[in-house]
Amino acid sequence: MTTTSTPFAPVKWQDDALVLLDQTRLPVETTYLTLTTAQEVWAAIRHLQVRGAPAIGMAAAYGLYLGIRNSDANDFDTFWQHLSEQADYLGTSRPTAVNLFWALDRIKARVQRESGKPVAELKAAVLNEALSIQREDAEVCRRIGEHLLTLLKDGMGILTHCNPGALATAAYGTATAPLYLAKERGWNLKVYADETRPVLQGARLTAYELQQAGIDVTLICDNMAAMVMAQGKVQAVIVGTDRVAANGDVANKIGTYGVAVLAHAHGIPFYVAAPLSSIDLDTPTGADIPIEERPAEEITHGLGKQVAPDGIKVYNPAFDVTPARYITAIVTENGIYKPDEIRSCKR
Ligand code: MRU
Repeated sequence: MTTTSTPFAPVKWQDDALVLLDQTRLPVETTYLTLTTAQEVWAAIRHLQVRGAPAIGMAAAYGLYLGIRNSDANDFDTFWQHLSEQADYLGTSRPTAVNLFWALDRIKARVQRESGKPVAELKAAVLNEALSIQREDAEVCRRIGEHLLTLLKDGMGILTHCNPGALATAAYGTATAPLYLAKERGWNLKVYADETRPVLQGARLTAYELQQAGIDVTLICDNMAAMVMAQGKVQAVIVGTDRVAANGDVANKIGTYGVAVLAHAHGIPFYVAAPLSSIDLDTPTGADIPIEERPAEEITHGLGKQVAPDGIKVYNPAFDVTPARYITAIVTENGIYKPDEIRSCKR
């Protein structure tokens, strides 16, 4: 597979450590964290220093290596027990993005396949699999972008929500991949980025990375999407996903469902960019997807400033589920699918 890089390296394996671009500090500060233990990786995922489904999977994969590299196991069974404990632990960091579990399971499957080898070689296999997951992600995103581009035309207005961008992947992003490819081809797409309450991944991350790439991006508050659509400024919505259920329902950042309903009301196509690693045929419907609830302070103390009364009751689900009926197409690295075709696409 070929790989291409975009200007951001949110996840890097460097000098025997995991180096993460701290996404909680963007766009004001570009700070890197150097992590050497599974506990540090767990915390970085939980606290959104690395976030976005594919990047969470990549970070967890390296975290698994960090968790077992000093294992004192001398035989396969003991090593397998250590590996499984660390994978279970990393799997508790965030519940919704299935890429986290997919990456951990993929590494375990590789170790199973190589179970006859000495422990030192199994440890090396864990790291190699993590590196492969990251290498492949860039190619997967590019292919998603190429398929999505066939649905777009030069000059269109595109609305997106959250950050399904280069910062959430190895390169290109998923939903943003066609925007980067369109730019390479000299197209002029006009992108509207929802700010994405409560922690503003759209404002802090999507607006930032697209602006850095020279893509025409306009930041709007989440509650402006209806107006912008009514004014005819948007010809397609493209979002990412944390998990696609077997019936084609899609979990993504809170607010995505509302955007889908608005797109439906305005007759605007609603596309979901989804690597196969985000498609979970073991989850029958959207109602079965575990939805993360995050701390109240994300709402009451937005970006460190108190904006709500002390002691107020808060409900803070981090994701919502868009029913398949509002989704025009789910675009994977293998092609473009109707939501009800998603079972066959994965097989
Ligand atoms: O809470 P986050 O920032 O991890 O949420 C991320 C999203 O919802 C993204 O849209 C999704 O992971 C797709 S990333 C290609």
